[in-house]
Amino acid sequence: MKLLFIGDIVGSPGREMLQEYLPKLKAKYRPDYTIVNAENAAHGKGITKKIYHELLQAGADILTMGNHTWDKKDIFEFIHEADSLVRPANFPNGTPGSGLKVLGTGKNKAVVINLQGTTFLPPLDNPFHAADELVTEAKKHSDIIFIDFHAEATSEKQALAWYLDGRCTAVIGTHTHVPTNDSRILPGGTAFQADAGMTGPYDGILGMKREAVLNRFLTHLPARFEVEEGSTQLNGVFVEADKNSGRATSIKSVQINDDKPFFD
Ligand SMILES: [Fe+2]
Ligand SMILES: [Fe+2]
Repeated sequence: MKLLFIGDIVGSPGREMLQEYLPKLKAKYRPDYTIVNAENAAHGKGITKKIYHELLQAGADILTMGNHTWDKKDIFEFIHEADSLVRPANFPNGTPGSGLKVLGTGKNKAVVINLQGTTFLPPLDNPFHAADELVTEAKKHSDIIFIDFHAEATSEKQALAWYLDGRCTAVIGTHTHVPTNDSRILPGGTAFQADAGMTGPYDGILGMKREAVLNRFLTHLPARFEVEEGSTQLNGVFVEADKNSGRATSIKSVQINDDKPFFD
């Protein structure tokens, strides 16, 4: 089982990057499923119905979200029918949408889960306790279980990966927009990378225009952040796993930018 994951798509530069490179990455890696984090896909914050369909059209099989899930009002109009979208599962009971989706049929099934961290982020249900229940539910369908853990602190991400080691195929972090150089397979067979990184502007600050972000640091006055223009990047992770056991057999980070051009 081969899973390709692409980190946070930021605005139209991120969407264009996905459109340009996903076909090339699919030709190179031949993934069974492509998972794309889309929490910043609409102008850097949230997602619209139009962009939801655009990303699926571009080749994503399922979209994961994060703390920006609800930033565009549009989400409340279509999340009920969005079969290919997961939002963080540890929002309170009754929150629209779902945090767990099953892809494929029969022996080709894979489960995708989205969770949000609570360190330096708003208080949601405990992601570790939520993960226990979600993994139990997921195992009814498949041992291939991919978790996008949308969290700020690398410690919380490492902790969840070790907590779930041997119970899921991969715990891959998102949210910081910076890819970490720590991809590995833990002893129980769970693939881990603390953050996959983002897809979109390369010369911004976490994808946003530098000037506004710098001004915030220099003055501490409120500033309106907009998506940066110019050079772009794509970041993600490619995981291979044994279908029968669900154990990861390889993990490789995928990075495309001006300093690391794509080679097929
Ligand atoms: Fe993000
Ligand atoms: Fe985020």
